[in-house]
Amino acid sequence: MKHSTLQRPRSLLILLVVIALSSVTTASATNLGPVTIPIPNGRDHFANLTQIPYNKRHSAFWLTTNQNVTVAVAREVDEKQKLQTVGLTALQFGCQVAATNGGPFNADGSNSGPVVIQGRLVGTNAPTDFVGFGTTVNGEYLFGNYHDFDDDRIWEFVTGFGWLVYNGTSVVISNEDDKRAPRTIVGVDKNDNLISLVIDGCERCFSYNGMTLHEASIFLQDRGAKYAISLDGGSSSTFVSQLRVANQPTCTGLPIVCERPVATAICISDRKNSDVLEVQ
Ligand SMILES: *[C@@H]1O[C@H](CO)[C@@H](O)[C@H](O)[C@H]1NC(C)=O
Ligand SMILES: *[C@@H]1O[C@H](CO)[C@@H](O)[C@H](O)[C@H]1NC(C)=O
Ligand SMILES: *[C@@H]1O[C@H](CO)[C@@H](O)[C@H](O)[C@H]1NC(C)=O
Repeated sequence: MKHSTLQRPRSLLILLVVIALSSVTTASATNLGPVTIPIPNGRDHFANLTQIPYNKRHSAFWLTTNQNVTVAVAREVDEKQKLQTVGLTALQFGCQVAATNGGPFNADGSNSGPVVIQGRLVGTNAPTDFVGFGTTVNGEYLFGNYHDFDDDRIWEFVTGFGWLVYNGTSVVISNEDDKRAPRTIVGVDKNDNLISLVIDGCERCFSYNGMTLHEASIFLQDRGAKYAISLDGGSSSTFVSQLRVANQPTCTGLPIVCERPVATAICISDRKNSDVLEVQ
């Protein structure tokens, strides 16, 4: 008796603390500033790909690397991008290590937000609240809203969707609108190495659809991601490893493996092939 009367106020207190914590997270999630990640220096080049089965049918393809990263578009057509599969783009741009699909786009090939290729803004520059991933001329990684960076600093950039992990912590609150789907994600770990991640799923299947953004953010947080954002997912999610499609993309959202043509790709090539980076 005495024990249970003591228990009650304590659980109430815990509940209040939880409510207070989640409102803090909500408040800060609206207001997460841009992040610049320095180049990881003085270490051998590496690229570690791990296939992580996360349910009975699907795996996540998690690459950790410090290799050269670029944003690739197949070709510009009237301020739009020619849609092309990630596999073809990887061949065309020599993405020997890996490549994934990039940002969301419209059916006509226009990007849903700003995209920068080698210092040049291509496609639409529609104002958007979405965050993206990019690089500076020096090879630093950028994460955040395009408009929060100095235009001069941006060498390449692709606009994605939202933050998943910020400073080591998931910033996605679980809610009913957050449906499961395949996911494509880019981020960094605590050592400033790049994380390129594709989580397989099947958006229009009855089950095993993939992960919600909340689940994906916890998955990343638990495996040591420091910052991560969501790129275009669903039927676009494709992971190419060493110039071959490694995951099971579902271009129709049904359980048929097929690659969807996309507007942008994240291309990871071998830094050793670069004159520029041998200098530092
Ligand atoms: C990459 O993989 C190798 C071999 O499994 C491991 O020794 C190394 O610690 C990994 N490096 C990183 C940064 O994950
Ligand atoms: C990031 O989180 C660590 C604790 O994990 C904290 O010490 C640090 O101040 C945070 N940095 C920022 C920029 O919020
Ligand atoms: C990075 O890779 C791209 C595409 O393969 C290549 O054009 C570029 O020269 C490389 N840059 C560096 C700094 O390695």
